[in-house]
Amino acid sequence: MRTLIKNGTVVTASDTYRADILIEDEKIVSIELESMAAYDQVYDAFGKLIFPGAIDVHTHLDMPFGGTVTADDFTTGTTAAAAGGTTCIIDYALQTPGKSLEEALQAWHARADGKCAIDYGFHVAVTDLNDTILEEIPDLVEKGYPSFKVFMAYKGVFQVDDATLLRVLQQAGVSGGLVLVHAENGDVIDVLTREMLAEGKTEPIYHALSRPPQAEEEAVNRFITIAELSGAPAYIVHLSDAGALGRVAEARLRGHKIFAETCPQYLLLSIDRYYEPDFGGAKYVMSPPLREEGNEEFLWDGLASGNLQVVASDHCSFNMKEQKELGLHDFTKIPNGAPGVETRVQLLYAGGVNSGRITQNQFVDLVSTAPARLFGLYPQKGTIAVGSDADLVIFNPDAPFTVSQGTQFQNVDYNPYEGFQGHGVPEKVFSRGELVINNGKYVGKIGHGKFQKRSPFGQF
Ligand code: URP
Ligand code: ZN
Ligand code: ZN
Repeated sequence: MRTLIKNGTVVTASDTYRADILIEDEKIVSIELESMAAYDQVYDAFGKLIFPGAIDVHTHLDMPFGGTVTADDFTTGTTAAAAGGTTCIIDYALQTPGKSLEEALQAWHARADGKCAIDYGFHVAVTDLNDTILEEIPDLVEKGYPSFKVFMAYKGVFQVDDATLLRVLQQAGVSGGLVLVHAENGDVIDVLTREMLAEGKTEPIYHALSRPPQAEEEAVNRFITIAELSGAPAYIVHLSDAGALGRVAEARLRGHKIFAETCPQYLLLSIDRYYEPDFGGAKYVMSPPLREEGNEEFLWDGLASGNLQVVASDHCSFNMKEQKELGLHDFTKIPNGAPGVETRVQLLYAGGVNSGRITQNQFVDLVSTAPARLFGLYPQKGTIAVGSDADLVIFNPDAPFTVSQGTQFQNVDYNPYEGFQGHGVPEKVFSRGELVINNGKYVGKIGHGKFQKRSPFGQF
């Protein structure tokens, strides 16, 4: 099957130009100013931008957490991702203490295989380290899982100690792995949380107040210090705080391979959301929490200057009804996380490109190319080039959109950006040459999404 996309403006991380793109089966086979090639079907993209499919390297689908399971599974979550212009996700397989990393991957493959609308991969979260677990790391890199996550927060659940951080970094570093971290000081948060509960402070705002910016900055700094000591590259997930970003910028200036992602929620929402009436603040209970207004300006600057390399969603959806409600009388029982896999690309385009904070090319880099390079998918994904997967988005930069729970694909009973208006709509989305989204309708096949074996860190 040969598909021609004609007359569009191709936007990659480095270039913008008019071209016709010819797809044969799953791959891009030619990019020419005016293609004369024969084709079976044609799409006219005049007046539209063509982006490489976006890659969301931080999702949690079908994940047990906080006494419940996320509202989106791999079918609803990947369909929602596609609707938003994302053609590949990397989710987290979490080690159960006492079990192997392989067992975690088997469990997550059972959740995802045959159920995805778009391509997917897994990071592996290490929660319980010993010598045998350490030995699994090089094997897993070989098998296409070159990224490992550690948590410095969620005391008593996922949190690991500094010795574990160092050992995972050392082993990953010599094996071609990249270590990802949730950087908040879990011990400090634990003390503050107990104090607040003892004072009868149970509302959602205390989630944010018990996790102050200093808890993030300290953990980011400690992690960077340990990473530098180990010599291994490292990546900070969902960075939310200006002070923490300063620590990343300093380490990068020293020449260390430190990378960081932020998320739309930290760019567009602020701490006052926790005061929404009738337990509405629970919608935004996530970790790290939303920060004071003004903090987001530092993050936008970080995206523009290159100190932040990736925008991911940290999609982790729980319904208000029966899930967030578990914490009606105790903020610590509100499952942490919020939906965002569907809105990430449009929110960044509207909030970043349309407001002049980042260029279209930077936008493509942040949502697609840099994630592909850092996580071993480039150049198969993350760019528009001959030989790359035909993961493509025909994007109408002038079309208006309004975010609404009522029209979303995400399987959750609210949207944290309800009513947000902007311009820029992914009208057609192709996953390996298959049209999966056509003007707001899902037209793909569940099970089309394939597991992506990724390359070791740095091989691009
Ligand atoms: O609150 C959040 N971010 N939930 C998802 C798990 C995590 O920490 O990334
Ligand atoms: Zn986290
Ligand atoms: Zn997360």
